[in-house]
Amino acid sequence: MPEECGCKEEKLPADEFSPEDWKKIDEVIEAHREKGLDDLLPVLHEVQKICGYLPASVQRRIAAGLDISPSTVYGVVTFYTLYYTKPQGKKCLRVCDSVTCYDRGSKELVAELENKLGIKPGETTKDGQLTLETVSCLGACDKAVVAMLDDETYYNLTAEQVSELVEEG
Ligand code: FES
Repeated sequence: MPEECGCKEEKLPADEFSPEDWKKIDEVIEAHREKGLDDLLPVLHEVQKICGYLPASVQRRIAAGLDISPSTVYGVVTFYTLYYTKPQGKKCLRVCDSVTCYDRGSKELVAELENKLGIKPGETTKDGQLTLETVSCLGACDKAVVAMLDDETYYNLTAEQVSELVEEG
C-alpha cells in the first residue's frame, strides 16, 4: 500500500499493525508528549520494539504526538543505523565494510552473501529469516573481516566461513 502524505494524519492506521499495536504506540507517545523533541530517541526506541520497524505511518503518528515535524522524525530515523524503515528479518547479519575490513575482503564476502541469499545489503530474505546489512567499523579492525549475527561477533571471516554461518542460522 503506498504511503500517504503527512497531512492525512487521522486516516486509518496501516494494515500491518493491529489496533492493539497502535494503542501501545499511542501510550508510548503519550508518556513522552510533554518533552516532545527531547524524548524523540527513546520514543523511537520503544515504538520500534512494538512494531519491529518505523514505517512512514508510524513516523507521522510520532511526529503528530510529539508536536514536531515529520521531516525531523524521518531525519533522525534515517540517520541512526539502529532504526529501521522496513520490516527486519528474524536475524540480522551486519558485515563491517569500513577501511580495514574492506581491504581484507569484506566486499567479496558481501558479494558471496548476496549470491547465496538473493538480497542486497539493507534487504531481507523472502522467508523473513535474515536481514543483511553493511555497517561501519565494529571496533575490532585487527581481526578483520568482522561481522555480527544478532549480538554475536565473528572475527577473521572469510567468504566461505560467512556462508557456513548463514547456513547454520
Ligand atoms: S574496519 Fe572493520 S572492524 Fe574496524
